[in-house]
Amino acid sequence: MYKEQIDKNRLPHHVAIIMDGNGRWAQQRGKQRTAGHQEGAMRVHDIMEAATRLGIDYLTLYTFSTENWNRPEEEVSALMALLLQHLEQDLFMKNDARFRVIGDVSRLPQQVQDAVNHLIEVTKDNSKTCLVLALSYSSKWEITKAMRNIASEVADGKLSSDGITEQTITEHLETNFMPEPELLIRTGGEQRLSNYLLWQCAYTEFYFTNTYWPDFDEEQLCKAIVDYQGRQRRFGKTGEQVKDEESK
Ligand code: IPE
Ligand code: IPE
Ligand code: MG
Repeated sequence: MYKEQIDKNRLPHHVAIIMDGNGRWAQQRGKQRTAGHQEGAMRVHDIMEAATRLGIDYLTLYTFSTENWNRPEEEVSALMALLLQHLEQDLFMKNDARFRVIGDVSRLPQQVQDAVNHLIEVTKDNSKTCLVLALSYSSKWEITKAMRNIASEVADGKLSSDGITEQTITEHLETNFMPEPELLIRTGGEQRLSNYLLWQCAYTEFYFTNTYWPDFDEEQLCKAIVDYQGRQRRFGKTGEQVKDEESK
């Protein structure tokens, strides 16, 4: 069991997941792609509960990208309907979990926007894992928006151009309420970021698995965390420097 191998004192605070492979999971079973999305939605529940049990502070799930708007209309509508169906208050209350969203929420159907805003409001005082869905999200969209906001603050004299630091950019991103992910998991076999958290993943550890998202479970999440905990994060220093610092 990988769960028992986890060092509870060195848990990642923020785990980001690119939930990929729903369509292929369904096609492999001779089903419609939507059947894969339905099964995938169940895994969101399971993994959120697992993250809460483990004590992970932030779980950021790539749910619908800016580019996913280009999928066939039936698939987009099916995904929006699934979202509405799964934004369940009870699940969050039962797990004392918070809900947040990153992305261009204004592009979502009004009903989904209302459900999202309601769930954010009613869960805001919960104290365990914060489940963050990336909806109509892409990193380039997010960075462009941040640049625009920074530029208008400079134009208004609220900020000087010399005053722009890395911190300024971080604070203008959608993710400004959470730490950067220590671990990013991508299911489904592809090894790419697909426009997810480009700035935030500057020093993130990547974990790729061939498992399709509908087959991903708590044990595999634990396996990824154990793998992460076995790595030495050097942030540009030498391995010896890192060891010295750890032994202090
Ligand atoms: C991920 O699964 C879910 C979304 C992108 C909405 P996919 O739908 O991309 O599944 P594959 O990659 O086609 O198998
Ligand atoms: C990334 O998956 C987006 C989400 C998981 C929501 P995609 O399936 O859209 O990514 P690409 O197109 O294979 O890169
Ligand atoms: Mg995919």
